Amino acid sequence: MFYITTAIDYTNGAPHIGHAYEKVLADVLARWHRMCGEEVYLLTGVDQHGQKVQQKAEAAGVSPEQYANDVMQKFIALWERLGIAYDGWAATSDPRHVRCVQQILTNLKDRGCLYKKAYKGFYSVRQEQFLTDKERGEDGSFGPEWGEVIELEEENWYFNLSAHVAWLREYVSTHPEVVTPEFRRQNLLNAIERAEGVDLCISRPKERLAWGIPLPFDPEFVTYVWFDALVNYISFAGYLSEGDASLPDFNRLWPAACEVIGKDILVPAHGVYWLCMLHAMGFADAEMPRLLVHGWLNIRGEKMSKSLGNIVDPNDLCDVFGAEALRYYLVRDTKTGYDSDYDAERLKMIYNTELANDLGNLCNRSLNMCKSYLGSVVSRGEGDDALSAALRAHLSETEKKFATCMDAYNTADALGALNEHVKQCNAYIEQTQPFRMAKEEGKLPELQRVLFHLLESCAHVAYLLGCVLPEASARMLEQLQVSTEGLTPAGLHWGLLTEGQAVQAPTPVFPRIMSEEEKAKAAERAAKAAAKAARKAAQQG
Ligand code: MSP
Repeated sequence: MFYITTAIDYTNGAPHIGHAYEKVLADVLARWHRMCGEEVYLLTGVDQHGQKVQQKAEAAGVSPEQYANDVMQKFIALWERLGIAYDGWAATSDPRHVRCVQQILTNLKDRGCLYKKAYKGFYSVRQEQFLTDKERGEDGSFGPEWGEVIELEEENWYFNLSAHVAWLREYVSTHPEVVTPEFRRQNLLNAIERAEGVDLCISRPKERLAWGIPLPFDPEFVTYVWFDALVNYISFAGYLSEGDASLPDFNRLWPAACEVIGKDILVPAHGVYWLCMLHAMGFADAEMPRLLVHGWLNIRGEKMSKSLGNIVDPNDLCDVFGAEALRYYLVRDTKTGYDSDYDAERLKMIYNTELANDLGNLCNRSLNMCKSYLGSVVSRGEGDDALSAALRAHLSETEKKFATCMDAYNTADALGALNEHVKQCNAYIEQTQPFRMAKEEGKLPELQRVLFHLLESCAHVAYLLGCVLPEASARMLEQLQVSTEGLTPAGLHWGLLTEGQAVQAPTPVFPRIMSEEEKAKAAERAAKAAAKAARKAAQQG
């Protein structure tokens, strides 16, 4: 089973383009593995507890539950719009999750992994954590990222994280597959060196924070939001669910093949806390999840933030460009693991160039020629030629490259390879000139062969694009009258189109994205052409 899951999003705000990027990346990978014939389970959801939600709910005059659920609806609506085909939804106020977290806490306490102690120190209200000297800047103060910092003394429960650090160092050093990309694993290894000797405070006194999961053995406390949230990867996968039929079978899902998270939550949350929590619960090395760490989407090199007023709402982009254009852009113009800049002009340019021009034109031209010259009936024709053989070889190489890149989470190069093949097909049209063949005597078999190569290539590309552009892919395959049921990328073969089958007349799948100015100019051109046609008709009449 390919169990893929994403970070769960805080419900103290609204979804932005960074959240959308992560979910689209995960959905594309999940769809790819489904296409490959693997059984896939994609989990995503929302992180609902914590101080920030409590504060925002108070300010809004509603209960934290109400507030978190209202925000959750925004995420659900956006994922629906973006075609995120998830199998499980993880909302941390779900009683099944609460039960699981409490059971884990009880088990850890029974195993001697938890203890209570008083602590006095500096506390960041924004980050909901005590700060140590390591968090001080060069001038000795705590930086603005910590928000308001207060001095606090309180009793709390601790997880003996430090007892697991030696294991963690050994495990991460000897298992390169645990974090992708490799340089992020190095970041983690450096952080583990600094984690020595520090335990993790996993409770918050109820009087300060009521919106959390109560500790089952000390009701005056709720669970620290990170400890609660990280457990979602196993609670919603059926861990300790005792046959609850509404949850999956844990043994079939676990370990997660891929937890998709942003670079900001590798250290310490996923790379240190989460792996040590699992180790403390008794998970063996072979039962550790794998982490895929993506970079951030920034705006002109800057972090998106409310204070800078540069937050991009994916809903606005869906309104203007359409969900599929946004999906394509997000996984085409980012190098998985690295930061990239979100740029609406690039979105438009990449869509217009690669989809509207290169692929859209290829499909339209090929189907149009087939309609005009062959009555929309496909035939392989006869014989072969060097250009056609080269095109077939190129397609086969493209498919291998696509698969290798997708398996390595490299969506940008996978899509780049498909685009290269589309360009190759457009060049093949110029080289073979089917429009000339159509006018020449005795060229029918050759013409059929060329158009077959073009339409067959379109079908392969449309099929593979299915994991990124499910709707456009289905529409292209419909026009080509190709069924891909039961097909896998490894089983792709020359001859998706069959001898003598019909294809449909083309209807453009990728209309150009135009600015208001371009639209006005196009309308002006269309009006002029209509007027000219009317004049001509009047003269003739
Ligand atoms: N609730 C925690 C995660 C708990 S997982 C057990 C959290 N939530 S978040 O809403 O702040 O972020 C959710 C995900 O979105 C994280 O993986 C984070 O890295 C990602 N992104 C948030 N801003 C981002 C960008 N600007 N760009 C790309 N992804 C970013 O952290």
